Order: sequence, then structure tokens, then C-alpha cells
Amino acid sequence: MPTSLLTEETENGVVVIRLSSDNPLNPLTDELVDALVSALERADADPGVRAVVLTGSAKAFAAGADVKAMVPLGYCDAFQQDYIGRNWDAVRKVRKPIVAAVRGYALGGGCELAMMCDIVLAAESAVFGQPEVALGIVPGAGGTQRLPRAVGKSLAMLMCLTGKSITAAEAQRAGLVAEVVPDDEVVRAAQQTAGAIARHSLPVVMAIKEAVNRSFESSLNEGLLFERRLFHAGFALHDQKEGIAAFTERRSPSFTDR
Ligand code: CAA
Repeated sequence: MPTSLLTEETENGVVVIRLSSDNPLNPLTDELVDALVSALERADADPGVRAVVLTGSAKAFAAGADVKAMVPLGYCDAFQQDYIGRNWDAVRKVRKPIVAAVRGYALGGGCELAMMCDIVLAAESAVFGQPEVALGIVPGAGGTQRLPRAVGKSLAMLMCLTGKSITAAEAQRAGLVAEVVPDDEVVRAAQQTAGAIARHSLPVVMAIKEAVNRSFESSLNEGLLFERRLFHAGFALHDQKEGIAAFTERRSPSFTDR
């Protein structure tokens, strides 16, 4: 169900969730994040949705957490409300793939949100950064943990410690971004990428997402074992038989998600 803070449009199994708050910088207010989490949970539960595109405005994917809401917060409020953690953890629980289409600013929580997605496509105008240090705060939605995994320690330290942001081209060279495309094509490109995923067997796609994410949370040995178990489990799928039969019979597979 669309809210005034975001829109949702589904086409060919791909839902495009667009952050569109009154402020085109899309500050991540509690209301916006709650609406986003609800939209993602709906998409995850909807059998008609096979992949998600997440985007913002032409000016910003999102310019970070709502700094103005931090003014009255003390330590006890932040700790007891599990401020930031409370709603953001829900994003990484989404099991269907999420492709981010980033235009303009992806700063602070906006950069962190992009990194929670599975694939990041950037418009030429995209700017990624963790400027929290300039506000006297530590990144709070994964910046110090996901950024080094994405771009390596040295660049992550540079960005987090100085607040320096990087361009789309720099982000692509560093591995944060998969592709850079012109601004007016990035949402369409993300839809095409999500559409290419959506044509495959959903249980296989979900298993691959789980396995790749596991690589960030386990030793190589544990990760390889996890992958091997999923690989073996795949032999129980009709879609695995269908995919292999289609290859040997030189035809396109017809997957049924079973
Ligand atoms: N939170 C709340 N309001 C914000 C905001 C944010 N993150 N970013 C911008 N705004 C507001 C501004 O306060 C301003 O509001 P008013 O008109 O009421 O003064 C309005 O949006 C327009 O902003 P600017 O005039 O600054 O727009 P600009 O085009 O000149 O600059 C910008 C754009 C470079 C993105 C600049 O707004 C900026 O630096 N924003 C803050 C970025 C930031 O520090 N993000 C990190 C937030 S902390 C965080 O995210 C913690 C975490 O890890 C989860």
C-alpha cells in the first residue's frame, strides 16, 4: 500500500520502492524507515514479487539519518529505544534480492542503506560518504562494518575518519558499486537487473543470496560447508532438474519455484 513517504510500483515481478519524502534529500526519519521496512516486508511476503528495486529522488538516495531528531536524544533514550538498530535490522532480514538505484547523495544512513542492499547501481551523480564524524557521531547503521568489507580498510578509514565522500566512479573502482549508468537510466537499469534475477528460480535465488551473505559472517571453512549443503539440497528441487534438463535439451528452462 503506498504511503506519502514512498511509492511502490510492481511490474513483471519486480517492485520499485521509491523513497519520496517531502524533503528530496530523504532524511531517514523514523516514519520513512518504518514505511520502508513495511514495504520491504510486504514485498518479501508477496508471491507476485521476485526482486526489489530501491531508489530515492533525483537529488538523493538518502542524505542520512534524521539529524534533527537526534537533538533531544540522550544516552538512555538512545540505548533503551535501540535507536537506529531497532528498525534497520529488519532490512537485512529480507530474503528476496534488493537492487539499489542510487542517484545523488547516499550519505551516512543513506550510504549504509545502499550497502544493506544486495547490488548497488549508481547514477553518474551519485555521491557516497559517511560524514558522521563531522557531526561528532559514529556511523550507526553499519558504516564502520560494511564499508571496509565493500571497499577495504584504508578507503573505509579515510571516508569514516575524515568524512570525505566518493563519486560513483570511485565507488565502482573500490567495489561498492556494481555499475555506473547515466542518471536518467539508473532506475530502468536496476529494473532490468532485478528482472534478470526474477526470471530465475526464486528458491535458488534466495539460497544464493543467503550463501553470499554468509561469506561475510563465517570462516571460509564454515562458508564453504554452508554452500556445499545448499548445493546438495538443490538436488531436491524440481527447478534444478528443469534447469539441467533444459541445458542438455538446448531449450530455455521453465522454472516453477519448486
Ligand atoms: N537529517 C535531517 N535533515 C536534513 C538532513 C539529515 N540527514 N540532510 C539535510 N537535511 C535538511 C537540512 O537541514 C535542510 O533543512 P532546512 O531547509 O529546514 O534547513 C534541508 O534538508 C536541505 O538541506 P541543505 O540546505 O543542507 O541542502 P544542500 O543541497 O545544500 O546540501 C547535503 C545537501 C550535502 C546532503 C547536506 O544537506 C548535508 O550535508 N546533509 C547531512 C548529511 C549527513 O551528515 N548525513 C549523516 C547523518 S547521521 C547518520 O546518518 C547516522 C547513521 O549512521 C545512521
